[in-house]
Amino acid sequence: MTIIDGKALADKMAIALKAKVNQLKSAGVTPGLVVILVGENPASQVYVRNKERRATSAGFNSEVIRLAVDTSQADLLALIEQLNQDAKWHGILVQLPLPAHISEEKILLAIDPDKDVDGFHPTNMGRLWSGNPVMIPSTPAGIMVMLAEYGVDLVGKTALVIGRSNIVGKPMAQMLLDQHATVTIAHSRTKDLPALAKQADVLIVAIGRGNFVTADFVKPGAVVVDVGMNRDESGKLIGDVKFDEVAPIASLITPVPGGVGPMTITMLMEQTYEAAKRTLAD
Ligand code: GUN
Repeated sequence: MTIIDGKALADKMAIALKAKVNQLKSAGVTPGLVVILVGENPASQVYVRNKERRATSAGFNSEVIRLAVDTSQADLLALIEQLNQDAKWHGILVQLPLPAHISEEKILLAIDPDKDVDGFHPTNMGRLWSGNPVMIPSTPAGIMVMLAEYGVDLVGKTALVIGRSNIVGKPMAQMLLDQHATVTIAHSRTKDLPALAKQADVLIVAIGRGNFVTADFVKPGAVVVDVGMNRDESGKLIGDVKFDEVAPIASLITPVPGGVGPMTITMLMEQTYEAAKRTLAD
């Protein structure tokens, strides 16, 4: 069994990205990422700080716009429109969740699809599903890079994705399908999940329940990817997979922390860079 080191891969990619950014700067373009945070959700504040730090260290123009929790939807839409028009920004990210009085759907629709680094705009979801991905969600994108880095050949393999969110489960399934895996999406109402999971060569777990996947879900030699970020009773960060139990059965497995997490921000940076590079070709 090999543990997939997402942190090491993210660090390696960060070094390579800096060099690519310097080249792009010589050609006259500095990648720009702007993040909008509405309110003071503590987890969102941590995520946003990390994104800002990584963008700055990659040599990007980086700005976080922090708005009061009672900001109106109209004001947020006006801000997005202004950022859409501003050539300094190649990536615009609105941190989720938004306060209840703001429609997430309306906000995501307002972002220019070519600046939508999250890949959450319906245009980008459609581009992915029709086989022409442009901006894609960072978490599944990072998983695909990890699988490639560790030499996982997906052609003809059975893959089970547990979780059907727009952010992870659905785009993950499409990316695996694109690499010629035979893909099933399972969710909280799937019947006899352990038996289904046990048939999978590749098991991606994004269900959001700590230690949910135990040894009896896993086929010997399977590749297991854990997207979970949960806290146990003592506040410790744990995944959706019971690592100690599953690791000895798996051929490859991602840990939590240090697996999928570090790759997510990495992919956000890569996509901002790619979006900036595309403006050169315009
Ligand atoms: N909140 C939690 N994860 C994400 C993400 O990937 N993108 C955005 N915009 N908000 C999030």
